[in-house]
Amino acid sequence: ATQPTREDRFSFGLWTVGWPARDPFGDATRPALDPVESVHRLSDLGAWGVTFHDDDLVPFGTGAAERDRIIARFRGALDETGLVVPMMTTNLFTHPVFKDGAFTSNDRGVRRFALRKVLRHLDLAAELGASTYVFWGGREGAEVDQGKDIRAALDRYREGIDLLASYVKEQGYGIRFAIEPKPNEPRGDILLPTLGHALAFIAELEHGDIVGVNPEVGHEQMAGLNYSAGIAQALWAGKLFHLDLNGQRGIKYDQDLIFGHGDLLNAFSLVDLLENGAPGGGPVYDGPRHFDYKPLRTEDVDGVWASAAANMRTYLLLRERAAAFRADPEVAEALAVSGVADLGRPTLNDGETVQDLLADRSAFEDYDPDKAAERGYGYAKLAQLALEHVLGAR
Ligand code: GCO
Ligand code: MN
Ligand code: MN
Ligand code: MN
Repeated sequence: ATQPTREDRFSFGLWTVGWPARDPFGDATRPALDPVESVHRLSDLGAWGVTFHDDDLVPFGTGAAERDRIIARFRGALDETGLVVPMMTTNLFTHPVFKDGAFTSNDRGVRRFALRKVLRHLDLAAELGASTYVFWGGREGAEVDQGKDIRAALDRYREGIDLLASYVKEQGYGIRFAIEPKPNEPRGDILLPTLGHALAFIAELEHGDIVGVNPEVGHEQMAGLNYSAGIAQALWAGKLFHLDLNGQRGIKYDQDLIFGHGDLLNAFSLVDLLENGAPGGGPVYDGPRHFDYKPLRTEDVDGVWASAAANMRTYLLLRERAAAFRADPEVAEALAVSGVADLGRPTLNDGETVQDLLADRSAFEDYDPDKAAERGYGYAKLAQLALEHVLGAR
């Protein structure tokens, strides 16, 4: 089944297909898309949901009456197509007012304005039934070490997120927050640069119970990190509330390629993890499969929709390949040789104490580390089996 259906829960940001391909070096190469058209096109392609920043739908500075009209028209498209809005977010980066950040700008007036901008869009998120609200702090950062007190910035970041989370709770909105880490771009250094920084930040929040992460493939890979391994840790922490799927080739600018058009083997292990859980068991991700990519600047409008379809098809192909990998008896054998399931067994026996361990001569005095070191773990064979399944050779 490589034809996407609503059950697959694929969602796209309006800003992804709608990107007119303006970059720091050149003008737009495509016309702006009408969000209503995007909803229809995404629905026709088999997507399930659409996500957006406040300003993607209602241009910054639009008056109240016009805002209502735009939202009503958008709702009409949702009703007609049955597309849902699983996630919403705020643009706290485009307008020049945010050039030094939003929640962490050195200018207090900017910080208060940013909170108001989020509060207004949170109300709409509740109305549209969004269950996740993403915070990507692209401008929360610095280029000059002396210009930003990181400790104070984290205090203000925490103040902002806690305030907004307490508002959501008071209103009974049932929305959860997801923080999206990124190491750099547009700021030289962004606060909460990686998934790990974000998890540590969430642990310091008063309302951290409704705050998780929204890791993006490319963002972790820009920091040289293993995305699939990071996702496993987010699942382990019970904090994988949402994710941004795309492709990236190594440590460079944020490429936002089609999902799989970067580190394909890591994309395979990711889909295998999301769909089948860890080999030793553990939670499977049941949230949206959200694409945050950019159609190449070289594409015309047809190429935009071809690329949107490619994201979903790649995911579904990898899902098929992952199922075949899991069902292959040779893979099961290789996993056993590698001892993958053995790691699920606690290191001490039930009820065993440190004193018991100290008394266990077989664990130390009589243990032969040189003999144990002779073991091969067979990971090369496992890797090759995975690669052959990805290539469709098995
Ligand atoms: C980026 C980010 C954004 C966020 C979006 C949602 O690098 O530009 O990935 O696309 O995901 O702002 O909050
Ligand atoms: Mn990004
Ligand atoms: Mn990206
Ligand atoms: Mn993103």
